[in-house]
Amino acid sequence: MKTEALIGAALLAVASEAVPTVDTTYPYTGPEVPVGDWVDPTVNGNGKGFPRLVEAPAVKPATANPTNNVNVIALAYVPQGMNIHYQTPFGLGVAPSVKWGTSASALTNTATGATHSYDRTPPCSMVAAVTQCSQFFHEVQLTNLKPDTTYYYQIPAANGTTQSEILSFTTARAAGDAKPFTVAVLNDMGYTNAQGTFKQLNQAVNDGAAFAWHGGDISYADDFYSGLLACQDDWPVCYNGTSTEVPTGDYPEGYNTPLPAGEKPNQGSWNGGDISVIYESNWDLWQQWIQNMTSKIPYMVLPGNHEAACAEFDGPGNVLTAYLNGDKANSTAPKAELTYFSCPPSQRNYTAYQHRFRMPGQETGGVGNMWYSFDYGLAHFVSMNGETDYAMSPESPFIKDTKGVAKEPLANQTYITDSGPFGKIDNNDYNNTKAYQQYQWLAKDLAAVDRTKTPWVFVMSHRPMYSSEVSAYQAHIREAFEALLLQNNVDAYFSGHIHWYERMWPMGRNGTIDKGSVVNNKTYTTNPGVSMTHIVNGMAGNIESHSTLDPKKGVLPITAVLDQTHYGFSKLVVHNASVVTWQFVLGNGSGIGDELTLIKKANSSGSGSGSPTTKNGVAGQQAPLAFTVVSALLMAAWYLV
Ligand SMILES: *[C@@H]1O[C@H](CO)[C@@H](O)[C@H](O)[C@H]1NC(C)=O
Ligand SMILES: *[C@@H]1O[C@H](CO)[C@@H](O)[C@H](O)[C@H]1NC(C)=O
Ligand SMILES: *[C@@H]1O[C@H](CO)[C@@H](O)[C@H](O)[C@H]1NC(C)=O
Ligand SMILES: *[C@@H]1O[C@H](CO)[C@@H](O)[C@H](O)[C@H]1NC(C)=O
Ligand SMILES: *[C@@H]1O[C@H](CO)[C@@H](O)[C@H](O)[C@H]1NC(C)=O
Ligand SMILES: *[C@@H]1O[C@H](CO)[C@@H](O)[C@H](O)[C@H]1NC(C)=O
Ligand SMILES: *[C@@H]1O[C@H](CO)[C@@H](O)[C@H](O)[C@H]1NC(C)=O
Ligand SMILES: *[C@@H]1O[C@H](CO)[C@@H](O)[C@H](O)[C@H]1NC(C)=O
Ligand SMILES: *[C@@H]1O[C@H](CO)[C@@H](O)[C@H](O)[C@H]1NC(C)=O
Ligand SMILES: *[C@@H]1O[C@H](CO)[C@@H](O)[C@H](O)[C@H]1NC(C)=O
Ligand SMILES: *[C@@H]1O[C@H](CO)[C@@H](O)[C@H](O)[C@H]1NC(C)=O
Ligand SMILES: *[C@@H]1O[C@H](CO)[C@@H](O)[C@H](O)[C@H]1NC(C)=O
Ligand SMILES: [Fe+2]
Repeated sequence: MKTEALIGAALLAVASEAVPTVDTTYPYTGPEVPVGDWVDPTVNGNGKGFPRLVEAPAVKPATANPTNNVNVIALAYVPQGMNIHYQTPFGLGVAPSVKWGTSASALTNTATGATHSYDRTPPCSMVAAVTQCSQFFHEVQLTNLKPDTTYYYQIPAANGTTQSEILSFTTARAAGDAKPFTVAVLNDMGYTNAQGTFKQLNQAVNDGAAFAWHGGDISYADDFYSGLLACQDDWPVCYNGTSTEVPTGDYPEGYNTPLPAGEKPNQGSWNGGDISVIYESNWDLWQQWIQNMTSKIPYMVLPGNHEAACAEFDGPGNVLTAYLNGDKANSTAPKAELTYFSCPPSQRNYTAYQHRFRMPGQETGGVGNMWYSFDYGLAHFVSMNGETDYAMSPESPFIKDTKGVAKEPLANQTYITDSGPFGKIDNNDYNNTKAYQQYQWLAKDLAAVDRTKTPWVFVMSHRPMYSSEVSAYQAHIREAFEALLLQNNVDAYFSGHIHWYERMWPMGRNGTIDKGSVVNNKTYTTNPGVSMTHIVNGMAGNIESHSTLDPKKGVLPITAVLDQTHYGFSKLVVHNASVVTWQFVLGNGSGIGDELTLIKKANSSGSGSGSPTTKNGVAGQQAPLAFTVVSALLMAAWYLV
């Protein structure tokens, strides 16, 4: 099956910016079903056999043996409206549609949209469970809606699907609406280790959170090999019931249970290969798990490294590379054979991510699911792409592989995670962030913010600019965006990637702590143009478990709070134009792990370049960041985040 894409040209009217199609330029040399046939059904694990984990579909089929089904429903804002995204294993035969209205008893309107698909492996026709597979992705937009208003909607039946229940959502409040609101901010949430976070998130939805904002690393679908490859000594966490190397902090009781006979120990699953054995199925599973939230509140996402490709790197002996390139089990391969071509075309270059969500890039001058912004009440929210589309981005465009020469790279010039650019790069000047469309858009978007309406501006990307766990990418993202964000008086910058909770002191440029903006350990003032708050929020829980600080290095002076023990997410509460609070909600149900109050300081008339020292009469403290770039470059490839 080749990229069926759009069913009927008439439907293009709504989603006129086509979702990127699967890249088929480069050959894939692996097996036809790249991962499905690795599953050994004779391994009992938890006794259910494969598939061992089942999550309910969004719509319960009306018949015992459905031929098609709505498995996932997910909402996302578009300006003055809502995009309703839903997923089925097979086509609908008609334009996707949604019945809607302001009363559950009068769904008097019908909106139609468009369908897109990709050539996933294995295709849903090879997956036995119709209620566990998504291959057709439907987008229906309701536009020109009233702000802060509840609407009811229902997805009708088509080609074997059952119609959905009547569901509802509430539109975004108009910019300038001064009522307080709460946002659930989460990062790096996969399936394993996130049960507590999941429970607290659902509670937050029931308590009225306006929307969820997930800063990349979404399903950890690409960690499927964690369920296949035996533990390696140099994996940061490798636990199997007998190993004493369990994760730090709270972990499921099951980790203390010895492995069933015959199970291979692997990272992340205490029952051997229980999960994470098929890339696409991991996506299906995670989306179905979380859809209790995504069908009720907008679920806004941005790209993380785990969305890029079918895998990031390989371990000693390159056992995974042998699987990917020739379907050779228990084999080894030369390191150089792990290239951009090693994944099937549908598992390269953010393809699954592009299809499985629908963010408002097109409507906000950005690009698709890659970068966009939106307003809610007193705040402007910016979702950035910290993975591609700036100089020295962690995932590389081909133009970088070919050192600036615009031609197709040779296989051995590429990397498995090569991705983007998703926007244009002026003159292929790939080492210059300002040549990138993302930077140009961000500059324009921030400059256009009306601070009288949205005094608060929050930016998130997957990659932190600062952390006590220093890495070279942090210098690159600072170099690219820090000055621009400070010049535009951004209040806070959120990120994930590192799997812990870490709150920095307010930071000016290049690691300068703005001590003058610290009221106390739990209270900062904003300092427009001079500093902003940085929070690493990567502790939702995923198959890779917590990050742990190298005990030899210790916590840097830039860090105010570091929690490597607890899972959870954060609640951002915008109280009014002068106060927001940030709370780390513990996944274990015991309340709040950290709380910060951020107080708006009147700005000093647009000055964007003053140093913290002159502004506050307090000596800024230079954090010892310089050494760290070198140590980061020496880091082993096995570093998992
Ligand atoms: C309808 O569903 C069946 C599977 O039940 C599928 O084979 C067929 O292609 C679908 N029809 C369309 C038009 O997509
Ligand atoms: C799903 O949402 C409903 C209603 O908001 C809630 O009662 C239920 O507990 C949620 N499910 C889970 C698994 O949290
Ligand atoms: C548990 O994992 C360790 C490596 O972390 C390995 O040495 C040991 O053999 C494993 N035990 C079992 C029972 O799988
Ligand atoms: C791979 O190795 C495992 C354990 O060493 C063995 O049980 C299994 O049969 C091997 N698989 C193949 C396809 O050789
Ligand atoms: C890369 O591949 C090309 C053509 O296949 C070959 O000529 C070249 O020597 C290879 N380079 C390296 C560094 O292996
Ligand atoms: C990824 O996709 C984008 C657009 O969808 C394309 O411009 C870019 O060249 C692709 N990058 C790679 C590495 O395939
Ligand atoms: C871009 O920067 C990288 C890293 O500094 C360097 O290796 C490369 O030569 C530069 N490319 C060009 C065209 O200047
Ligand atoms: C921050 O560091 C960069 C790179 O070292 C340097 O070019 C820049 O001048 C520094 N900026 C400030 C405000 O210190
Ligand atoms: C702030 O935290 C530091 C260390 O984390 C501690 O030494 C200090 O007493 C705390 N100050 C206040 C006011 O809580
Ligand atoms: C803003 O909200 C905070 C926290 O609820 C409250 O203490 C403060 O009085 C409010 N300020 C104004 C100006 O309403
Ligand atoms: C959650 O973590 C906190 C802080 O470590 C601890 O005091 C509490 O006992 C934990 N709660 C549960 C239910 O495990
Ligand atoms: C700072 O003040 C200037 C001039 O009054 C205004 O244009 C700008 O929007 C203000 N910025 C913030 C962050 O409030
Ligand atoms: Fe990450």
